[in-house]
Amino acid sequence: MNPTLETIAKRYSCRRYDGTPIEKKDLEAIALAAVQSPSALNQQPWKINVITNKALIEEMDDMGMAMMSQWEDKSTYQRFVDRGGNLFYNTPCMFLVVKEPGKDLDCGIVMENIALAACSLGLGCVICGMAAIPLQSEKGAEFKTRMGMEDGEEFGMAILIGHASKEGTQHPVNMDKIRWIE
Ligand SMILES: Cc1cc2nc3c(=O)[nH]c(=O)nc-3n(C[C@H](O)[C@H](O)[C@H](O)COP(=O)(O)O)c2cc1C
Repeated sequence: MNPTLETIAKRYSCRRYDGTPIEKKDLEAIALAAVQSPSALNQQPWKINVITNKALIEEMDDMGMAMMSQWEDKSTYQRFVDRGGNLFYNTPCMFLVVKEPGKDLDCGIVMENIALAACSLGLGCVICGMAAIPLQSEKGAEFKTRMGMEDGEEFGMAILIGHASKEGTQHPVNMDKIRWIE
């Protein structure tokens, strides 16, 4: 297998980090991979905010957990409690991709470039749609400002990156998903 295929094969969603900061050169390499993503008509309808403000990440985590604890269906909240009680798994870093309305696919492609870049550097990562939850709280506007979001920008997707404190496993591959039309 070549190194690219090896990275794809070894990536998994990491849900426990030791909280230590990521070296700046690694953050820069991941950011470069993000902006090398393809996009329709090369419009690049996104911005990538690299958030390493631990206090902000923890405040958003607390708010997200508090909000989920109030939901009628407690199963999601319980899942996060079972995983250690954090929405963001003690990550030291969140890459937030903000986008123009309707540009989800372009945004998703950036996510995968970031995920594979992080994995290739020996870092853990997990794409995190739940990062949108604290943005819906009464502190949502404040969080958006502190996360560097500007007017007209929408939450696209977030990805948490850090040093794994617990190794995970890759999901089982299902080759039935492939149809060979010959
Ligand atoms: C759009 C999207 C949103 C996701 N949001 C979350 C999330 O909020 N929290 C989480 O722990 N995992 C999240 N995941 C990770 C998925 O649960 C994970 O990719 C899936 O279970 C397959 O496992 P793998 O990534 O280890 O292959 C998300 C993945 C995607 C693609």
